Amino acid sequence: MYQFDIAAGSKAELYRDLASALDALTADETDGIANMANAAALIWQYLPDLNWAGFYRMVGGELVLGPFQGKAACIRIRLGKGVCGTAAATGETQRVADVLAFPGHIACDAASRSELVVPIVRDGGVIAVLDLDSPLPERFDAEDAAGCEALAVLLSSRIG
Ligand code: SME
Repeated sequence: MYQFDIAAGSKAELYRDLASALDALTADETDGIANMANAAALIWQYLPDLNWAGFYRMVGGELVLGPFQGKAACIRIRLGKGVCGTAAATGETQRVADVLAFPGHIACDAASRSELVVPIVRDGGVIAVLDLDSPLPERFDAEDAAGCEALAVLLSSRIG
């Protein structure tokens, strides 16, 4: 059993502790799927108000579903499609306050109202995206984006 000391006092502390827990959990493991699975579980456990948290991996030029927590989701997403495909195509974090207003948003869970997708980059290319969905509108602020970008940097050399 793993025990983590995650402070919930401020968002900055929460993300700092989450990054150290993720670092400890993945540092000695070379299997990328195991590391993504534990990352999804950790994020799901400690970030409030999520209805989906997980990964899509770049496989053969499209995004393919990876380890996640939440409801069963769409398996393949073409580059440029939806929030995930936009993050993968542009290499830029997508922070969507209202998914219903995002052109081409792909609804995997009808409960989703806002979404944060962070590209994971290695050697200049996007190798995966971290996708978080919330049932609350405007759930993700700039601190969430920065916190998740730090997790993505940490994971970039540890997800295979
Ligand atoms: N909403 C995403 C699809 C993936 S699910 O949220 C898990 C999108 O528009 O790309």
